[in-house]
Amino acid sequence: MKIKKAVIPAAGFGTRFLPATKAQPKEMFPIVDKPALQYIVEEVVDSGIEEILVIIGRNKETIENHFDRSIELELELERRGELELLEDIQRISHMAKIHYIRQSQPLGLGHAIYCAREFVGDEAFAVLLPDDIIYSSRPCIAQMIHIYDKYGGSVLGVKEMEDDILCKYGNLQGEIIEDRVYRVDGLIEKPKIGENYSNISVLGRYIITPAIFHILEDLEPGIDGEIQLTDGLDRLAQIEDVYAYRFEGIRYDIGDKFGFLEANVEFALRDEEIRHRFIKYLDRVVKNYR
Ligand code: G1P
Repeated sequence: MKIKKAVIPAAGFGTRFLPATKAQPKEMFPIVDKPALQYIVEEVVDSGIEEILVIIGRNKETIENHFDRSIELELELERRGELELLEDIQRISHMAKIHYIRQSQPLGLGHAIYCAREFVGDEAFAVLLPDDIIYSSRPCIAQMIHIYDKYGGSVLGVKEMEDDILCKYGNLQGEIIEDRVYRVDGLIEKPKIGENYSNISVLGRYIITPAIFHILEDLEPGIDGEIQLTDGLDRLAQIEDVYAYRFEGIRYDIGDKFGFLEANVEFALRDEEIRHRFIKYLDRVVKNYR
């Protein structure tokens, strides 16, 4: 069955990025000139999905405003004859059908996904975590839909990670069944040092079958006292086939200050309009700090 819906949880406090996130959502921080969340919505749309549910928390009105029309701005751009910019701005509000729901208590990612059950209904759906921005020639979630179409079960987006950061992510136990594809035997959320199953981490992209909702319904809180999606997926793998796919592309963890800077520098270096000036600037400035 075609994947028609995507869920984007954007209700976190962004504590790794305080004080910047005190009154504004980290999902709206710009990577060069576009808010992070727009990259995610574009990935969804470019993968052929048209309906999106964004799970929001407090202080998230700017997210709704960004994807809605801004008539005053449109009129002003038209008056100034800035037609290219006008088209860009209008495109944002027409890109997809975006719905919003509020997660009123911060009970964890598993709980946020559980809040999407009515929107999703009885079909497999995509989940994209906006902390993970993936730069690739083919959208990451489209790559994963391809694997879902082939195998028919849930698919988790994974990558091999360095030993010292495995404890930051969901960790995979599984066996490789074809190039880049694993059958999942188990998962552990943020394993303690030495308790990881492998060096393969789950990185913010999922295709999940609706059976997850029955599991999340009465899942106990896990690590950090939160209802963990990883724990739910671990159970799901005990009752039906779950796969993992080592996706192609460069992944940035923009929930982290360093990852956010990496994304900004590298997207700027890819931007035809500013790259030449920016390279000269970097060459010059880096010397002063060595
Ligand atoms: C979440 C998930 C974790 C996953 C990570 C990817 O953790 O719980 O399994 O590996 O995203 O970025 P968070 O970073 O929100 O704590």
